[in-house]
Amino acid sequence: MAAFPWRQTCLAFCCLFQTLATLSSPQQQGTDQQHRTFRVENPDWTFSHLAVDSRNGNVYLGAVNQIFKLSPGLEVQASHQTGPEEDNRKCYPPRIVQPCGEPLTLTNNVNKLLLLDYRQERLLACGSVFQGICKLLRLDDLFKLGEPSHRKEHYLSGHNHSGSVVGVIVSHGDGQVTDRLFVATAVGGEPEYFPTISSRQLARDSEAEGMFAYVFHDEFVASMIKVPSDTFTVVPDFDIHYVYGFASGAFVYFLTLQPEMGRPGGAGLGGGAERVYTSKLVRLCKDDPAFNSYVEVPLGCASGGAEYRLLQAAHLAPAGTELAHALGVELGEHVLYAIFSQGRKRREGNGVQGSALCVFPLRQINTRIKERLQSCYRGEGTLDLAWLKVKDIPCSSALLTIYDNFCGLDMNAPLGVSEMVLGVPLMSEELDKMTSVIAYVYKNHSLAFVGTQRGQLKKLA
Ligand SMILES: *[C@@H]1O[C@H](CO)[C@@H](O)[C@H](O)[C@H]1NC(C)=O
Ligand SMILES: *[C@@H]1O[C@H](CO)[C@@H](O)[C@H](O)[C@H]1NC(C)=O
Repeated sequence: MAAFPWRQTCLAFCCLFQTLATLSSPQQQGTDQQHRTFRVENPDWTFSHLAVDSRNGNVYLGAVNQIFKLSPGLEVQASHQTGPEEDNRKCYPPRIVQPCGEPLTLTNNVNKLLLLDYRQERLLACGSVFQGICKLLRLDDLFKLGEPSHRKEHYLSGHNHSGSVVGVIVSHGDGQVTDRLFVATAVGGEPEYFPTISSRQLARDSEAEGMFAYVFHDEFVASMIKVPSDTFTVVPDFDIHYVYGFASGAFVYFLTLQPEMGRPGGAGLGGGAERVYTSKLVRLCKDDPAFNSYVEVPLGCASGGAEYRLLQAAHLAPAGTELAHALGVELGEHVLYAIFSQGRKRREGNGVQGSALCVFPLRQINTRIKERLQSCYRGEGTLDLAWLKVKDIPCSSALLTIYDNFCGLDMNAPLGVSEMVLGVPLMSEELDKMTSVIAYVYKNHSLAFVGTQRGQLKKLA
């Protein structure tokens, strides 16, 4: 750790981060002329997602029942109401096909996904009502271009936790191929209804019939993965919590936190308080309609004799000169910044739990995955994906060369890597839990900003 020439600065007061963290608290305003704040008139409209247009700095906010567009100076330029709506969580759409017999009540629409679709100049905003339908809003004025809701695939996720869905848009350069939306979600006990991860058509026409249709789907193969019902007999409250998603090179990646699978009646599966969690990175090829490229690898970090295994937040950024040098990678190579809480058991509430910021060169993770693919295709070990294959399935050997961008075959897939990839710790914090991170390169220097539970912002340079 001492090898890193990083300075840590603590800013007691800050701009966007803290503004957003304390959106609804009655704090004094204007104590510092340099910092602008934005507050909604209704304190119940807590904000859940933020997207910034990289071309002009416009800010989009997803809140309860509202989507906002703000100028770079945080002045409201447009808003779009998304709720409340007459709904019942027990109703399964499409309602045109199966009318719902449950009583409807006015239900808040919590924003669960907010993505900029640059190519079509629109915002994809998915909410919690009606089992998670999405609106496509014009970036300019938030005018509703479409709200597909007549097919089962238009319903992305069932519950109202703002942090349960992560999406990545994959654009193909030539404009001939339809863009894709990779979407990953906690299933909230409804594995039959919602795949945990899938790739969807992102049609150019916001009202197109095929919007969000699976990229591929036939009787045997589909561009999706569902949690099998067998998994729930082993871990009744099993779910995969997606924390972050991004695209890099030929791949799409998701970072997850999930209960560790054991054997039925085995250790660690007793009461919920004893549940042991593990953090994993999921990798898929951008162009893999059959999802044969699905690979999972556990991530963790250790610092000062403590293990940090519970992923809280992550951000991908290029490495600046010094960080690249310290990690042995090239300037500008992708590095994953990740915040983990200490231990392996999740603690609810605001109790103090130590946390650490760690970095992983993406190349190192890819190398580890390639080595595991190679060993599996030599017939070594098992597929090692306990939540997906409750029975151990041995790897089958096949004579083929596994190159860097190998996308799998219909054998030896999906594959889990059992050995954990350990990050390099940059800093740890015992008194105030770190909960968010963002990083970028300024004049060849890596800069990272970390937000904490108490609303502080720390800057690492
Ligand atoms: C989410 O759903 C739960 C249970 O139905 C409810 O208690 C909670 O108020 C909802 N959250 C919002 C923001 O409406
Ligand atoms: C960043 O590093 C590159 C390669 O070492 C160098 O050519 C460039 O001038 C540097 N830029 C700045 C702003 O220091």
